Amino acid sequence: MPPNVPHRKAGTLGMTGAIRIPPTIHRRLSSLRMQLGIPLERSPHERRVAAVPASVKAFTGWGWNVHVESGAGTAAGFTDDAYAEAGATIVTDAAEAHDADLVLRVEPPTLDEVALIPSGAVLAGFLDPYVATDLVQALADRGITALAVEAVPRTTLAQAMDALSSQANIAGYAAVLLAVDQSPKFPSMLVTAAGTIPPARALVLGVGVAGLQAIATFRRLGAIVHAYDIRPETREQVESLGAKFVEAPTQEMDEGGYAKEVDADTAAAQQAVLTDYVAKADLIVTTAQIPGRPAPRLINADAVAAMHPGSVIVDMAASSGGNVEGARANETVDLGGVLILGPIDLPSRVATDASRMYARNLQELVGRWRTDDGFAVDLEDEVAGPATITSGGRIINPRTRSAMGLGEEAT
Ligand code: NAI
Repeated sequence: MPPNVPHRKAGTLGMTGAIRIPPTIHRRLSSLRMQLGIPLERSPHERRVAAVPASVKAFTGWGWNVHVESGAGTAAGFTDDAYAEAGATIVTDAAEAHDADLVLRVEPPTLDEVALIPSGAVLAGFLDPYVATDLVQALADRGITALAVEAVPRTTLAQAMDALSSQANIAGYAAVLLAVDQSPKFPSMLVTAAGTIPPARALVLGVGVAGLQAIATFRRLGAIVHAYDIRPETREQVESLGAKFVEAPTQEMDEGGYAKEVDADTAAAQQAVLTDYVAKADLIVTTAQIPGRPAPRLINADAVAAMHPGSVIVDMAASSGGNVEGARANETVDLGGVLILGPIDLPSRVATDASRMYARNLQELVGRWRTDDGFAVDLEDEVAGPATITSGGRIINPRTRSAMGLGEEAT
């Protein structure tokens, strides 16, 4: 354990330092009252919060103490009073909110914030666990048990804990509203005395969770929708939502159910088929991602140049390299009157409902480790176990270890 690591304050009991625990041993953290902390998210553009009054009520119902930092829910529409009514104690600063047995967050903590979490505590939230290796190392050094929502298995059992899905769903919806807002055209057909307005043509590329919601939202707004994904089974899903599947190459996914990277020939064939659909589209939302890899390039600069001015593209993959040539994360690029947006805060734009869903995901996730008398880390649990990145001073998630060049852990 590194020096100067504070332990839980006397009176809140049960947390020990960075001890080594074999995965088979269930660790009892607290035999008295479990202390939960909900800090205010400080990263720019973040309006979400990791617990809402409804989840606080569940936690206090479990006999846990909940500390919510003052103002933590304000941007998402949840007042300090609402948290207090749900049974939380409002605390005034980040240090107090992080000083807990279990800290729930939305965004990964900064290294300064990690230093506020006691050694031996549990942290749950988005942690970027395959990329943010400095953070992972800091969490391990501090003996924090870190649960990353990105590492929750995408299984039927884990659906209620799948924050990637809940937030992607919201992001797909928000991307469509953003595209429509920036477009100079109506999305739906309009028959008026002043003439008939044809419906807008929308294109959705990448039909995972976000893409399906984007298709459904475009359809609700009355647009004609085409969609494409490399995974062949998405055709039926696209058609069931009333959209048309674009006949570009498809290929089977990997064992994990994710798309595989395509070779250069397939990528060229994709772009060739898509060019015509891109040129005719008024509104495009792209969502294509391959976990741990740069986003696939689906629309090149020539295809953008062939679009008519006033068209809008929202590239949801802009921060991982972009599906669209010229897209830049958190910027709007104007290429000859075609707007390419690379928003990085889509779920946060629908902060109230995004927080409600995310808070429920976390409640279900940490509830896996709830016991009759508090809480116990159980690395054998089939959902929370795989989602654990660090515990007892060790980096235990195999994918994180591989990303950090650590190899397999000795047993
Ligand atoms: P994602 O955000 O990782 O990727 C979005 C979409 O991009 C995927 O549909 C992917 O096939 C597509 N894509 C990747 N490369 C492409 C290319 N070159 N051209 C066109 N499209 C490309 O996906 P998401 O939404 O996180 O879902 C990933 C997988 O997990 C999917 O198979 C989904 O069905 C599955 N899933 C399963 C769940 C469960 O069983 N509980 C819950 C959520 C997702």
